[in-house]
Amino acid sequence: MELLMTKVCMTKDIGVHGNLFGGIMLSWIDEAAVAMSNRICKTPNMVTRKMTEILFERPVKVGHTINIYGKAVTMGTTSIALNVEARRYNVYTTEEDVVCRTQIVFVRIDEEGNKIPIAGEVRRKFAEEQG
Ligand SMILES: CC(C)(COP(=O)(O)OP(=O)(O)OC[C@H]1O[C@@H](n2cnc3c(N)ncnc32)[C@H](O)[C@@H]1OP(=O)(O)O)[C@@H](O)C(=O)NCCC(=O)NCCS
Repeated sequence: MELLMTKVCMTKDIGVHGNLFGGIMLSWIDEAAVAMSNRICKTPNMVTRKMTEILFERPVKVGHTINIYGKAVTMGTTSIALNVEARRYNVYTTEEDVVCRTQIVFVRIDEEGNKIPIAGEVRRKFAEEQG
């Protein structure tokens, strides 16, 4: 997987139980992943269509460093699916633990918000790389 983004959990990010608020984590993941899908699909016009089951596996506390990783797994005519993992990074040991994972589907849209095909050249290149 490719490192897409690093965040540090701030006090403003904490929910009522002293852990990172889940919605904040989702916004980090969505932002990191859409940037990756825009880059791969060579367009700034990808929108989030689906997030699969989202597992919050470990708590994140104030001061924790979170690395967000992504990998493109499939590409259709108008959509791309990315696997995404948020990992808690231990600055002392450099070890990482997955704290949250999901899969996200993005769809390319036009100016009216309708789905349109990802460029043929992009789809061919992706298919070649997948073997
Ligand atoms: C994105 C949007 C334009 C798609 O329009 P649509 O006419 O409904 O098209 P569909 O969703 O049926 O199909 C588009 C692609 O999504 C894929 N898709 C749809 N539902 C899916 C699902 N449950 N799982 C995986 N892929 C799915 C389709 O397979 C298709 O991909 P393909 O062309 O590569 O095969 C429309 O659903 C929309 O505007 N959604 C809101 C987007 C948004 O605001 N996101 C921000 C979230 S707050």
